[in-house]
Order: sequence, then C-alpha cells, then structure tokens
Amino acid sequence: MNELKIFAPATIANVSCGYDVLGLALDTVGDEMIIRKVSQKGVKITKIIGQDLPLETHKNVAGIAALALLSEIEINFGFEIEIDKRIKPGSGIGSSAASSAGVVWAINELLGKPFSKTDLVRFAMEGERLATGVAHADNVAPALFGGFTLVRSYQPLDIISLPTPNELYATVIHPQIEVKTSDARKILKSNIALKDAIKQWGNVGGLISGLYTEDYDLIGRSLEDYIVEPIRSILIPAFDAVKQESLKAGALGCGISGSGPSIFALSKGEISAKNVANTMKFVYDKIGIDYDIHISQINKEGIKILEKK
Ligand code: HSE
Repeated sequence: MNELKIFAPATIANVSCGYDVLGLALDTVGDEMIIRKVSQKGVKITKIIGQDLPLETHKNVAGIAALALLSEIEINFGFEIEIDKRIKPGSGIGSSAASSAGVVWAINELLGKPFSKTDLVRFAMEGERLATGVAHADNVAPALFGGFTLVRSYQPLDIISLPTPNELYATVIHPQIEVKTSDARKILKSNIALKDAIKQWGNVGGLISGLYTEDYDLIGRSLEDYIVEPIRSILIPAFDAVKQESLKAGALGCGISGSGPSIFALSKGEISAKNVANTMKFVYDKIGIDYDIHISQINKEGIKILEKK
C-alpha cells in the first residue's frame, strides 16, 4: 500500500462541561486527504484545495504533525500530502485537528501501524500547538479514536474512549464569522471559583455516566458549562436565543462547539436533531446572519479510508 485517501472528521471539543478534556467526532462533515509514500525523505504538502492555507511543511498543522511522527522513526523514504479542506478554519469544529489527526493516522497505516492511537494523539497535538498556541487534545483524540473521548490526563497523556449511545445526534450551526481559538482562550480566566468547579465536575461525571447507561436525560442535564460558556458566548451572535430555542425544540442540551463560534446541540434521534436545526436556522434567518448547518450522528469510527492504492 503506497497511498491512502481518507476522511478526517470534524469534532466538537469541550462538549459543554469538559473544557480541554471531552470531545466527540462527527460523521457528515470532515476533510479529505491523500497521503502518499514517496522516495524523497521528509514531508511535502503538494496541494490544498478549499481554503487558503500555507503549503510550507513547517507552517501547516498537517506538516508539523507529520514531522513530529517522523522524528520518532527511522525510514528512508518520505510522504506527500494533498488536502481537500472542507472544514473552515476558525469555525469551532476542529479544522486544524482534522488535518493533524488525518495525516498522522494515514502515515501510521502506511508504515504498518508502529504507533499506538495515544502516540498519534501526541503527534497531532503538535499541529494544535501550531494552530492555537496550546497542544490541547480534545479535538484530535475523538478524530483519532472516534465517538466520545476523555483526556483523563495530559501528563502523562491518558485518553479514554467512551461509549456512544446509538440514537445520539449532533446539530451544529456555524455563524459565518471566524473566532481564533488562541483569542477565545486568552479571554478566559485562569482561576475559577470552587462553587463553579463543583457544579462542573458533577456534570462531567454525569455526562460520562449518561453515555455508559444510555440515559439521554442525564446526558442532557449534564450539558451545562458554568465556567467557559458565560465568557465565550459573548463572541457568538444570538447565542442565548439559539440555545433557548434549541432546548425548546427538544434538544437534550446545547452549548459552544470547541472555542466557537459554532453552536452545537445533542438530540435523541434524527427527527429531533432536524427540528433543532430548523429552529437554529429560524433564529439566524430572523436576524439576518449567514450560517452553515450540519446534522450528524456521532461518528464511532473516527478517521476512515476512502481509497487505497
Ligand atoms: N478545548 C479547546 C478550547 C478546543 O476550547 O479552546 C478548541 O477547539
């Protein structure tokens, strides 16, 4: 096998209560990438379509992630990368993570899987460091593992794959503005009140318990963020209205996707997710805000092979 074409999924990081530790993978939105073995050593990005992003290996998150992997293995050949960038950068659904995770996953496959998934998370995190200034793992982990993931610890890195209830659907609306993750991180406070921390870790435990027991109401009750959402939501047009109307339309919970500006809701069943999408659209149509919208089941598999050569 010399070449792989893959689908690298978009992801929702934080999932309301789990800032920097929880994430989930989507199924209907993601990037496509071709990774090819070539005789020349190193990593070359030969083509990017869809977005205006740097081709220079050291300036591109996929290039940096690939170099991080190659620094830990001795080989006498290299790789070429082509990226069909379908996830808009700055949208809050793991655009940089899809590129970083996709490339290291595909290189690992082409090399005969010398690295574990946790190693791949570590390499892909270097792409996140380039994109956001901080090597957070809550987008790359679900992209690589699929489903819901928990970063139990960063040092040492400990990624836990969580079960995904079958009827869980995500609706994501992306108002057409760009919020840089680095900016959305700068506005957060570095200290939090103990009373907020208590509510927050109660929700993290509740959400995880709800995923294991397929208790959709518990999942919904746990999708509350007392720490980050009150600060970041001011960057997002009509956030409160979208959230309130989504809950009224039957969403289990609703919050900021990653660092925003996308807003996500989780629902039980596709019909409910579609009702939520219509409601979200209605809110933005009324005030004249352009958007993209996605409805997706949770992607349990993560990165997928589209073609092998
Ligand atoms: N946990 C990160 C943040 C995710 O919220 O800044 C960025 O997508």
